[in-house]
Amino acid sequence: MNVSKPVYVFILISLLGFSCTSQEKETDDLAHQIETYNEAHRPQFHFSPPANWMNDPNGMVFHKGEYHLFYQYYPDSNVWGPMHWGHAVSKNLVEWENLPVAIAPDSLGWIFSGSAVLDSENSSGLGTQENPPLVAIYTYHDNIKGEAGRIDFQTQGIAFSVDHGRSWEKYKGNPVLANPGIRDFRDPKVRKVVVEGKEKWIMSLAVKDKISFYISPNLIEWSHMSDFNPEWAAYGGVWECPDLFPFKTQDGKEKWVLLVSINPGGPNGGSATQYFVGDFDGQSFTTNQKEVKWLDYGTDNYAGVTWSNVPASDGRTLFIGWMSNWNYAQVVPTKVWRSAMTVPRTLSLYENKNELWLASKPVEELEQLRDQSATLEGENIALEHELLEITLKPKASDFSATFQNGAGEMLVIGKKEGELFIDRTKSGLTDFKEEFASIIKAPLKDLEINDIDIYLDRASIEVFVNDGALVMTALVFPTAAYTDLQLKGFETKNTLYSLKGIW
Ligand code: FRU
Repeated sequence: MNVSKPVYVFILISLLGFSCTSQEKETDDLAHQIETYNEAHRPQFHFSPPANWMNDPNGMVFHKGEYHLFYQYYPDSNVWGPMHWGHAVSKNLVEWENLPVAIAPDSLGWIFSGSAVLDSENSSGLGTQENPPLVAIYTYHDNIKGEAGRIDFQTQGIAFSVDHGRSWEKYKGNPVLANPGIRDFRDPKVRKVVVEGKEKWIMSLAVKDKISFYISPNLIEWSHMSDFNPEWAAYGGVWECPDLFPFKTQDGKEKWVLLVSINPGGPNGGSATQYFVGDFDGQSFTTNQKEVKWLDYGTDNYAGVTWSNVPASDGRTLFIGWMSNWNYAQVVPTKVWRSAMTVPRTLSLYENKNELWLASKPVEELEQLRDQSATLEGENIALEHELLEITLKPKASDFSATFQNGAGEMLVIGKKEGELFIDRTKSGLTDFKEEFASIIKAPLKDLEINDIDIYLDRASIEVFVNDGALVMTALVFPTAAYTDLQLKGFETKNTLYSLKGIW
């Protein structure tokens, strides 16, 4: 298992204080749990922190063969608190190595969500031409100011690393973007663009109920360019964690997608991510879209953004989301750690009825997890493994796949009345929060379902319809593994892979 020694010692000390004799047994138990990543409900092929609280993915950047994943982290407790950036790296988006906390709070505030880029031309001057810096751009949340009733407590700061992300130094002139007197002013996502032949940096920032775009020549001086907040968008909650990125369409045109997470106001309650497909001219983002589109109809994919600096030779738009929902994230029935990320996904645009939509499907690297394969025949299947990838081909217009265990718990994925649904009302532990025991629904409109890919981990289900044209992600907490699968309305032969765990 991949917890480096300093991380591990730091976690134990922060969880228990300094160990004394009366705590020795507890320390041993905890040490064993962290070391094995094998507690009840512990995700086996998803990233989760070794211990304590995690929320949004942050600062995702590919550099020197490593995918960096930073995340909102509170190292002292299993509920949200003073935010740090936790850190892990992966060479293949499948296995993760935990590293020490990358960025910790300072006198300017807690470290909220943000992004990281490779400043390859050293435009910031924070590295050298020979060794260009990684630059993290994040929100400072000044809790003391906030509690004193001020509204200007969120600003943007930067930190840099010249040792491929292993250590981070804060920029001395922070903050680089002051607060203009707006309460919600956060989550900078920065990307490089070429404007009139010159490289510039564009920042998308969530500003209450709009996205503001800023531009900079050097990641240090920022000027406001434009705002985006169409009347018909979803405004059920505050706008958070934007991300703006381009695609080439099949006819060679450039189209841009803007992700905007909102909380609450998601299609199934609480947190969710809407997206807009449109154009970006280097200054403003515009769209002809007229209705809200959701990246994932499930309850548990929030604040997700894309990796920066993915090599052009790869060309993929790689995404990961926080697999939880602010409705109940802090009370889910896990103790040592709280929260996991979704599986990494590749985003792409597809056309349906003259409109462009965003698809997300699991990265192909996940195929490395496949262990044994089986062809599922008939309607009643005994499951011998807990971690599964299943592909189902519907035959009837309504169908259902029901996972069950000996404790009488059941999780149902199905289609009824023109909607795809995940019924987790009896899926296992649900009583930690009323909203959790729900039937999660996605309107199919005229989408005809060809196949459904299901990824089942110990505490989550991810459902990808037609290569990710429609996605639903949901947490579940069965008290024992599901051992039976009942299929209704599917072709007679379907496929299953048992998956290997990564820890
Ligand atoms: C989204 C969010 C961000 C913020 C962070 C704080 O989940 O609320 O807007 O930066 O979490 O942890």
